[in-house]
Order: sequence, then structure tokens, then C-alpha cells
Amino acid sequence: MLSEKLQNELNTQMNSEFFAEYEYLSMAAYFHSMNLDGFANYFHVQSQEEHFHAMKIFHFILDKGGKADLQQIAKPNTEFKSPLSVFETALEHEKKVTKAINKLMDEAISENDHAVNSFLRWYIDEQVEEESLAGKALAKMQIIKGQGEGLLILDQEFAQRTFAPPKE
Ligand SMILES: [Fe+2]
Ligand SMILES: [Fe+2]
Repeated sequence: MLSEKLQNELNTQMNSEFFAEYEYLSMAAYFHSMNLDGFANYFHVQSQEEHFHAMKIFHFILDKGGKADLQQIAKPNTEFKSPLSVFETALEHEKKVTKAINKLMDEAISENDHAVNSFLRWYIDEQVEEESLAGKALAKMQIIKGQGEGLLILDQEFAQRTFAPPKE
């Protein structure tokens, strides 16, 4: 059985993964409206990854005999200052998620809950990849100063990204 505290914190994390799905989808819509369909694809794929993250927690809570407590998902930001600012926001977001996962792991360790500990390891590894990916994309945007013809080159690169359910 999950402790009430861990169950609550896992549910909060699940909600924040659903919110991330929404936020990235909103970023996809922003780029789509600028006719940068490759960028839109990049964030659409990211949005699908976040949905996967949320559902993985959903199933884990249920497998542990807990209650998957679906909460309201907040409205995402729909106004963006510039293409570059979107990537800055994305990296900041991933850093916050890493902190939240680490806090969850601290709780699992302090409660000696080995199942939650083992489950969360996947997220800890995943966040290394998420931050690396977001960091590299931001670095490329900084090289082209977020504008000009460079946008079209990156648009082609980002059009190649596809969603494959991450390895469990
Ligand atoms: Fe996530
Ligand atoms: Fe993420």
C-alpha cells in the first residue's frame, strides 16, 4: 500500500505531467500558427511524451491499489514572446520537474518504500534525457538568435522527431 503522503504526491506529479502535456501542446499551436510546422511537430511529440509520463503514474497508482485522483488541469500559457522564449520556458519547466521528481524520491527513501523508489528511478533517468534534449534545442536556438533563416533549418530538423513510447 502507498502511504497517503506518497499517494498524494504521486497524484500531484501525475497532474503536473498532464499540465505539461497541455503546455507543450500550446507551444505546438503557437508554432503551427507561425507556419513553422517542424517546430510544431517537435512540441507535439513532447506533448505526447508528457501524456505517457502521466499515464505511467496513473497505472502505477492503480497497480499499488491506490486511488488515481484526477484533478483539474490548469489552462496553459497561450501567449509567447518569441520562438526563443518558448525554448527557455521549456528548459525551465524540465528543471522544475527534475526537482519535483527528486523530492518525490526523497519521500520514497524516507518512507523506505522500495516499490516507489524503483518506479521513480525511471523518471530520474528520463529527466536527464529531457533536460539534455531541451538544453540542446535551446542552445541551437541561441546560435541562430531565435530568428532568420536559421529557423527554417531547425524547422526541417525538428520535423524529423517522432514519438516512440519511451522504454520502460
Ligand atoms: Fe514529464
Ligand atoms: Fe518533460
